[in-house]
Amino acid sequence: MQSYSLLAPAKINLYLEILGDRPDGFHELVMVMQSIDLADQIDVRANGTDTIHISCNHPQVPQDKSNLGYRAAALMAQKFPDSFARYGAVDITIHKHIPIGAGLAGGSTNAAAVLVGIDMLWRLGLTQSELQELGATLGSDVPFCISGGTALATGRGEKLDTLPDLHSLYVVLAKYRSLSVSTPWAYQTYRQQFGHTYRWNPHQPEASRHAGHAGSILTAIAHQDGAKIGQLLHNDLEKVVLPAYPQVADVRHRLQQMDVLGAMMSGSGPTVFALLNTQADAQQVEEDLRQAIPDPDLELWVAKFNPAGIQFAPQTVDSK
Ligand code: C5P
Repeated sequence: MQSYSLLAPAKINLYLEILGDRPDGFHELVMVMQSIDLADQIDVRANGTDTIHISCNHPQVPQDKSNLGYRAAALMAQKFPDSFARYGAVDITIHKHIPIGAGLAGGSTNAAAVLVGIDMLWRLGLTQSELQELGATLGSDVPFCISGGTALATGRGEKLDTLPDLHSLYVVLAKYRSLSVSTPWAYQTYRQQFGHTYRWNPHQPEASRHAGHAGSILTAIAHQDGAKIGQLLHNDLEKVVLPAYPQVADVRHRLQQMDVLGAMMSGSGPTVFALLNTQADAQQVEEDLRQAIPDPDLELWVAKFNPAGIQFAPQTVDSK
């Protein structure tokens, strides 16, 4: 049976601004998304049956129909019934490296990899934008996870404009293993506390990419100016997550005090990242933070900006 092994990179948000409420219940956003080389490996194998199977080495990842990767496969089966009948269902194996409930799009990038893998297994020949359109029905971050790199994301997060590559930058990521933040909770709490500040007009949705304040960081990205990008990092969700999770606020504060270009929470958290110019700088900050907070519950990673989304893992095509 044929199989593909894919690398599914995590993302961080260099910028996340909430403009207002959308008629569909989501928020209108302006985000700068960045893939990093902390990645899960997803194996997708044709199993010749009519049943999708999913397994994962991480005990907290659901291994049933609620898994976003399973839902991606079910979506493909529903959209392409002839191919499903011809090639059969898939076994999905997730080798988890991205922390879960972390604000790093771990679930979304797994779903993105399943869509890409099934497109190849079933020889559908879908374009990237067709895959992204399918992905948007699974989650707002799935379309970005397919193409990856550096991108401006607007709308729910599914409308993408490619930005210049920033792949020479590094991050240190810090997350308490026992903490995770619910994304719906973060957005609902933001709406409760800051909804009165929303100024975006839902009747002019196309105006969103001009309505925010991302202009300065977009200029810094165009100039590939890491120092400026570090000063302009922004995430509106910090306003609700940091007060509710003082440990996360403390990590962010400590990173900010170190010799970094900038520090920020990613997505709805609780992962905090610091931006650095070199791998050596990142390793130094990782070591300094470990000394400052010796708590073994605090997990740290060094990662590099990644210029792409879903890619083949080394040694990929296997048609035993
Ligand atoms: O799209 P996704 O399933 O990742 O979104 C998770 C939750 O985050 C949504 O149910 C919603 O509560 C919130 N969200 C939002 N506006 C967005 C994206 C997500 O309110 N643009």
